[in-house]
Amino acid sequence: MTNQSLLIVNARIVNEDSITEGDVLVRDGRIERVGFGLTGTHADRVIDARGRHLLPGMIDDQVHFREPGLTHKGDIATESAAAVAGGITSFMDMPNTIPNATTRAALADKYLAAAGRARANFAFYLGGANDNIEEIRALRPEQACGVKVFMGASTGNMLVDDPVQLERIFTDCPLLIATHCEDTALIRANEAQARERYGEAVPPAAHPGIRSEESCWRSSSMAVDLARRHGARLHVLHLTTAREMALFEPGPVAGKRITAEVCVHHLLLDDSRYEDLGNLMKCNPAVKSAADRAALVAALREDRIDVVGTDHAPHGLREKEQSYLRAPAGLPLAQHALPMMLEHHHDGALTLETIVRKTSHAVADLFGIRERGYIREGYWADLVLVDLRRGTEVRGDELLYKVAWSPFEGTTFRSQVSCTLVNGVVAWEDGALTGEIPGRRLECHAAR
Ligand code: DOR
Repeated sequence: MTNQSLLIVNARIVNEDSITEGDVLVRDGRIERVGFGLTGTHADRVIDARGRHLLPGMIDDQVHFREPGLTHKGDIATESAAAVAGGITSFMDMPNTIPNATTRAALADKYLAAAGRARANFAFYLGGANDNIEEIRALRPEQACGVKVFMGASTGNMLVDDPVQLERIFTDCPLLIATHCEDTALIRANEAQARERYGEAVPPAAHPGIRSEESCWRSSSMAVDLARRHGARLHVLHLTTAREMALFEPGPVAGKRITAEVCVHHLLLDDSRYEDLGNLMKCNPAVKSAADRAALVAALREDRIDVVGTDHAPHGLREKEQSYLRAPAGLPLAQHALPMMLEHHHDGALTLETIVRKTSHAVADLFGIRERGYIREGYWADLVLVDLRRGTEVRGDELLYKVAWSPFEGTTFRSQVSCTLVNGVVAWEDGALTGEIPGRRLECHAAR
């Protein structure tokens, strides 16, 4: 049931680079008060959060919820349910759907489809294409969270490989440009070599050699060069290599023209896992070495990398069980997003404050998201209670994804998302969905 007012008491509030014990009063969807000694204040419901941490919900800047056209893999209803279970209170969805979201009309249809069905708040990217520069030029910041440009081919055939169009997009795009960076020509050459060596039986462990460090470097350094030359606002998605870290400046998001994202799986997995996970961890860009993984974590600490997303990209298990060359790239991740990030806290590699900055504050700043991403009076109450003393066992029968598998089945993460509030409404609590569907459209202003 929706409570008009909700009081959370005795929480350890992780917000704006500090952790303080306190209470939060939520009314009509928003945070009314943050303080001490609010016990006794009237509220329709009181949650005693003693021993638990209260975080602003994760804003995931990269998901593939597969709607429209690929809804056998996932849809906004199913995947947003998994998202709230994982502590995600807002998501930004990618355009490689069918049809591709390359027009403002297709975008408008996506917003319509999400209304009343999303458990978390939502925004959509327009897709760049070789032939839609007029759509891009006409786009207004309130219509999309950004323009996604596949500078490397991946799922969905949305490669922008015409150099003239790329120049035009970087010159004229009125919004932030978010890129997938891998050099497709080099990948094709690497794949041809692998076929010569293995025939059709190329093993999954060949993936990071095919989608190689050099292929990432060529494309991401080209994106950075284009952005510098044209003064574009660039956000490079899912970085995977130590070498690419040199392309980004350390420091806060404010004032940066070029920003970067890493993803939860690239921060936890490395190439030693291809042996047991095989195609289940095949994704683009590929998971690389342990040294690369460590460099990504270090770059988060240095504020060289600004935000963390999931790149939640479900494919059916049958598809993934095909040979390496046939298996699609991408994995479902949203349901364990925050528990995965909190592993770095348990390891002593990232503080809770840093995790909150990367999953929430900086994402809100980077995309100009109105009144979200912080625990502040007057802001929307997108909040997550996590318990660092209780684990989350990843069990097949508890997965909410339409594809119903996870690369982490059998793993126990050391934290638990015990409650997720979206717009002040409890959407997930004690291991179960509440049935509430409180997601709203995000108000973003990621202008050039
Ligand atoms: O592994 C990936 N899967 N990388 C992408 O860029 C796309 C995604 C998908 O949509 O399946």
